[in-house]
Amino acid sequence: MRRVTLTQYLVEQQRTKGVVSAELRLLIEVVARACKSISHAISKGALAGILGGAGTDNVQGEAQKKLDVIANEVLLEANEWGGYLAAMASEEMDDPQQIPNRFPKGEFLLTYDPLDGSSNIDVNVSVGTIFSVLRCPEGVTNPDEKAFLQPGSKQVAAGFAVYGPSTILVLTIGNGVVGFTLDRDLGSWVMTEPKIEIPGDTQEFAINMSNMRNWPAPVKRYIDECLAGKTGPRGKDFNMRWVASMVADVYRILSRGGVFMYPTDAKHVEGRLRLLYEANPMSFIVEQAGGAAINGLQRIMDVQPTKLHQRQGVILGSKNEVELIGRYYAENKQ
Ligand code: AHG
Ligand code: MN
Ligand code: MN
Repeated sequence: MRRVTLTQYLVEQQRTKGVVSAELRLLIEVVARACKSISHAISKGALAGILGGAGTDNVQGEAQKKLDVIANEVLLEANEWGGYLAAMASEEMDDPQQIPNRFPKGEFLLTYDPLDGSSNIDVNVSVGTIFSVLRCPEGVTNPDEKAFLQPGSKQVAAGFAVYGPSTILVLTIGNGVVGFTLDRDLGSWVMTEPKIEIPGDTQEFAINMSNMRNWPAPVKRYIDECLAGKTGPRGKDFNMRWVASMVADVYRILSRGGVFMYPTDAKHVEGRLRLLYEANPMSFIVEQAGGAAINGLQRIMDVQPTKLHQRQGVILGSKNEVELIGRYYAENKQ
């Protein structure tokens, strides 16, 4: 069987479909290379002295792990020299990072969550990296926060890596969703899923049940109905999973369907997950795989951001389930 690598996939997309420019191709390849090196560091774990806290807080007041800081640095250094970026922004940096003057600037903006699932690092559970690519607004030479405040529908590419039993990379350039597995012997990303599609229906949900007392009525209604099982209104039994690494939960949903929820609730009034480098890229991928992604009342990718590190309620996955939850929200509003 012919093995298709990430490079080959991107070159083919550039040649035959014209959906990727040479600059975007380089950007994606460099991000993927950075993910390889993060994967390598993570796999060494305690041997490399990279577990535990960094002793600092990020802009959101969350304690940073050593690996949050390391992964952020790896992505920064990898992406500053290539000439395709105008600026980048990350969960772990207060403000957008400008491209140093010694390097040329390009047309794209990159946002990323360098290490998703930080609470799982020290307990050897899957973590990952999430990224999103936007175009720099015309005429902007030193992109500040404002340049990044674009709705998710403007993304030109999005992807995520999962550092799990194997390391995988999921990617969309607005032309469906493809998956690659890292071949550590060759050091290359090999396409293992040429067309990822989320089943429309599901019997599995992912939510942090410890927030139940804070949930809004539509979420409580949906979960209650799932829990009621075969004899309840849904007429079937549901199963539950919660990895607490969005990358792993979303990858499972891409693989076998399901619904993932971190809604706004009485404790997380603006939501828990970040719009620009968690909710938007995952929504783009999920929609491209035939699923849906809403914040309850609205499609996530239609939300106009107002802050770089803004949070957002997230309900995504199998289309029929997400639409049902959307109807519960709409009915609750009336
Ligand atoms: P991060 O590690 O980048 O801060 O993101 C963690 C996120 C997400 O991956 C996960 O779904 C969620 O936080 C888990 O939150 P709880 O610990 O509240 O379940
Ligand atoms: Mn995250
Ligand atoms: Mn993170």
